[in-house]
Amino acid sequence: MKILMVCLGNICRSPLAEGIMKHKAAEHGLDWHIDSAGTGSWHSGQLPDRRSIAIARQKGVDITYQRARQFHTGDFEQFDMIFVMDTQNLSDVLRLAATPAHREKVALILDQTSPGQRLSVPDPYYDDNGFEEVFNMLDEACHHFIQRHI
Ligand code: 4NP
Repeated sequence: MKILMVCLGNICRSPLAEGIMKHKAAEHGLDWHIDSAGTGSWHSGQLPDRRSIAIARQKGVDITYQRARQFHTGDFEQFDMIFVMDTQNLSDVLRLAATPAHREKVALILDQTSPGQRLSVPDPYYDDNGFEEVFNMLDEACHHFIQRHI
């Protein structure tokens, strides 16, 4: 299974999603390839936001190996599943999809916990206190996905 996590900047939410899914996959002995990207390029090459690094570390997940990169159309071929964090990411990624097969790979990550509700992971960039809630939402979503695939 190859999974790509996508948000806007690839420094706050999708690095957490990548780290959490990788951690859980390893715990279950699953040889999955997991990566993350941003629809925007402003932060390309940067480490995850220090607040994402801190909450992940507190929960036992290391994300300091990650560097931000921009989503590109080749990712539709490289990955089996493309999980987006919010409805804006969803439309931005779907706009780049060239085929129905590509479109079918894209889903809101919170559909794993709340199917059909079109819920977004809130952008915590301007909210220092939002990171733990984001971590917990992603942890639950990744847990549900793994449970369905082991
Ligand atoms: P992310 O959060 O999409 O979860 O990485 C953001 C990071 C940076 C910005 C916006 C959202 N920004 O505008 O720079």
